[in-house]
Amino acid sequence: MKVAIGSDHAGYSLKEHVRQQLKKINCEYKDFGVYSEDRADYPDIAFSVSKAVGSGEFSYGILICGTGIGMSIAANKYKGIRAALCSEPYSARYAREHNGANILTMGARVIGPGLASNIVEQFLNTSFAGGRHSNRIKKIADLESIAQNINTV
Ligand code: RB5
Repeated sequence: MKVAIGSDHAGYSLKEHVRQQLKKINCEYKDFGVYSEDRADYPDIAFSVSKAVGSGEFSYGILICGTGIGMSIAANKYKGIRAALCSEPYSARYAREHNGANILTMGARVIGPGLASNIVEQFLNTSFAGGRHSNRIKKIADLESIAQNINTV
C-alpha cells in the first residue's frame, strides 16, 4: 500500500503527526507538502495528491486543511477521485467499505491528533465491500462523464 499525503499551512502540523504515524507502521508514503506553515493554497496540494492517486501510482491519499472541506471539494473535482471528509472513525470505515473512498480528508482545526490517528487507522485498514456498492460507484463515474459532457457543450 502506498499513501500520498499533503496539507496546506493550516493542516501542516497534523500532517506531520500523520506522517510520523505512517512511518511508525512502516507504511510507504510520499509527502506532497506543504513543508512549513507558510501560507499555501489548498487546491494546489489537493491537485498533486489527487493526480498521484488518480494515476494509480498511490493506493490512497490523505489531505489535511483547516476544516478538511476545501481539500475535499478540490480533490473531488479530479476524475476518479472519491474524497471523504471524516471527523470520526465510523465515517472513515464506511467511506472505504461502502463508498470506496480513495482519499481521506481531515480538518486540523476540527479534530485533534489522537482522533486523527484513529481515523487514519480505520481508513487504511478497511476494504471496499464491493457487491451492490460497486454498481453505485459505477453510477458516480457515469455522473462524472455526464457532467464533463455537459460542461463541454
Ligand atoms: C485556511 O485558512 C483555510 O481556509 C483552509 O485550510 C481550509 O480550511 C479550507 O477549506
